[in-house]
Amino acid sequence: MSQRIVHRPAPVTFNLSQLALPALRGRRLIRGAACRLISGVPTKVIAVANQKGGVGKTTTAVNLAACVAALGRRVLLFDLDPQANATSGVGVEKIEGASAYRVLLGEGGLMEKIQPTAFERLSIIPSEVDLCGVDIELARTDNYLHRAAQVLTPVLASGLFDVVFVDCPPSLGILTMNAFAAADALVVPLQCEYYALEGISMLNRVLTQVIEAGINPRLEILGVVMTMFDSRTRLGNQVVGEVRQHYGERVFRTMIPRTTRLAEAPSFGKPIIHYDKYSAGSAAYELLAQEFVQRLGI
Ligand SMILES: Nc1ncnc2c1ncn2[C@@H]1O[C@H](COP(=O)(O)OP(=O)(O)O)[C@@H](O)[C@H]1O
Ligand SMILES: [Mg+2]
Repeated sequence: MSQRIVHRPAPVTFNLSQLALPALRGRRLIRGAACRLISGVPTKVIAVANQKGGVGKTTTAVNLAACVAALGRRVLLFDLDPQANATSGVGVEKIEGASAYRVLLGEGGLMEKIQPTAFERLSIIPSEVDLCGVDIELARTDNYLHRAAQVLTPVLASGLFDVVFVDCPPSLGILTMNAFAAADALVVPLQCEYYALEGISMLNRVLTQVIEAGINPRLEILGVVMTMFDSRTRLGNQVVGEVRQHYGERVFRTMIPRTTRLAEAPSFGKPIIHYDKYSAGSAAYELLAQEFVQRLGI
């Protein structure tokens, strides 16, 4: 079982934001990799993944993305789940042809699929139902596990984003493997329930395989997020205790409480900080975002 812990040191390249020159941060001074060096930190790709459905992946992807954007980082949310809940969660319509579907199959570029949202510094590559067929079609192509990594290359080289969050489907299928191949690290939402530990040990086995098979040797778990936490139940506290015992510092200090406001927000097409800024869910994701940027060094 992999016990890799991400504790990345702060980037050694100088960071213009640290030099109090925020206006220059991320500007395209020089093309390509050099530009990313000058803008400070290269774009980080984070897959929000857990093979189980309903554990809070999309809720975490949407709300963490929005809170990281509110902290001043330039964020791209890449919706790779055919259910497209992250897309509607930020108020973007599901439109045929708008997703990465064709790009993943070799038609056109991913840059053209990026759309702004109503929220500052938060952009999205939307999903649509078409994506559900992409697994089968990708399986017939060469290099099918690295298609997302390939098509993301110009997006990363553009220097336009500090972080890309990939919202993964609830499986360990080809789309999720594409996200794993493209990612620097994983954020794993874990619902505070009885089977939580079993779920994460399965994910860990797959992570080890991804590393050992050379699909992505640098993939790490950035952190585990305990979701839908209810402090009033003994089970909730017990599960958190066990997960912390096994995964130690890899578990984010911030836990996401179960609140109806978090469940309501997507139907208004808004992340929680824009739907109900002074709610417990909003406070939790804001704290998680602070921990996240610190851990990631962005
Ligand atoms: N902290 C929370 N409190 C209350 N409801 C939540 C919370 N997190 C997620 N939900 C709800 O649980 C359901 C599943 O969450 P979702 O993020 O879509 O999971 P996944 O993407 O892993 O399938 C959704 O209806 C969502 O609104
Ligand atoms: Mg989801």
